[in-house]
Amino acid sequence: MKKFEIAVIPGDGIGKEVVPAALDVLQTVADVHGGIQFDWTEFPWNCDYYLEHGKMMPDNGLEILQGFDGIFLGAIGNPQLVPDHVSLWGLLIKIRREFEQVINIRPAKCMKGIRSPLVNPNDFDLIVVRENSEGEYSEIGGRIHRGEDEIAVQNAIFTRKGVERAMRYAFELAKKRRGHVTSATKSNGIFHSMPFWDEVFNDVKKDYREIESAAFHIDALAAFFVTRPQIFDVIVASNLFGDILTDLGGAIMGSIGIAPAANINLNGKYPSMFEPVHGSAPDIYGKGIANPIGQIWTAKMMLDHFGEDELGKKMLEVLEEVTADGIKTPDIGGNASTREVANEVCRRLKAL
Ligand code: NAI
Ligand code: MG
Repeated sequence: MKKFEIAVIPGDGIGKEVVPAALDVLQTVADVHGGIQFDWTEFPWNCDYYLEHGKMMPDNGLEILQGFDGIFLGAIGNPQLVPDHVSLWGLLIKIRREFEQVINIRPAKCMKGIRSPLVNPNDFDLIVVRENSEGEYSEIGGRIHRGEDEIAVQNAIFTRKGVERAMRYAFELAKKRRGHVTSATKSNGIFHSMPFWDEVFNDVKKDYREIESAAFHIDALAAFFVTRPQIFDVIVASNLFGDILTDLGGAIMGSIGIAPAANINLNGKYPSMFEPVHGSAPDIYGKGIANPIGQIWTAKMMLDHFGEDELGKKMLEVLEEVTADGIKTPDIGGNASTREVANEVCRRLKAL
């Protein structure tokens, strides 16, 4: 019996609705499978906690989380109670940084029963591996001469270690998928860092002769997301390029309520964190209509991370059957509730 200890942080708003729904699905998966067991420990760290304690989590919060195999998070944010930068930096960003979650991965897939804004979605199924710790998002640089002669300098940081580990992650992932990696570059316009990026990519790919690879400049690549998304399998990108591509990936899927994400720690010192792309959606909280698919798909990514790819695959198939049969929440054109969707997913998993 494989046992996984999971820290659960439902957070705010619809996080408190979609997390329990996704946990039911995970529990059902464990029951049906028989060989895995989850131990859930829930932490009430959110904006209400902040109002009571003056912080988003206890001072030893990270120490507490460190011992878990994974962190399963809903969404953080209740701007009516706590300013967003306070809630976000006090919990989410703290965990991502301190736990060295250096890779962010977000799949995008044409789901049956969900309308993509693309005219020809052509059954695309891709995943973006985004370098999550360095690159264009650095604090190095500065500004001088306020006013007419003002100058701003922003330095991007690309380390061989950081670039290489993102690329290796992408190649390893491609082995489990359709065996293709695309590098998002811009070495025709960015003089130092992107030729370096290309060099590292060419080095790394020698270790993966069985994987096909390609490199596209980011501008053309972004256009292909719209015109020919089906040509991509795994895409590896720097922090900025990956940020933009993953939002675009979410957009072509058709709803923010279905998009999953994972923040991956690679050195094994800390747990990885699994959270959907969407926020706490205060506008629909309490109505019971939040789409649970993003959170359930995120659970699937956690299973993949634990090496349970087969189970994860089955979960995604069932999710797609459910949407294809029209059991959908209002954001994707249905009239089912959060519970109804989750219950239907559980029912079908049990029937497998
Ligand atoms: P949001 O993602 O919460 O909502 C944007 C729109 O999408 C809303 O109309 C909402 O109803 C809809 N939506 C989102 N998830 C949905 C779902 N599962 N089912 C159906 N509809 C869904 O983004 P917004 O409104 O900008 O932010 C609200 C709060 O969430 C803020 O406090 C923000 O800081 C926080 N936030 C937190 C994130 C996180 O925890 N990772 C990510 C994004 C926002
Ligand atoms: Mg973004």
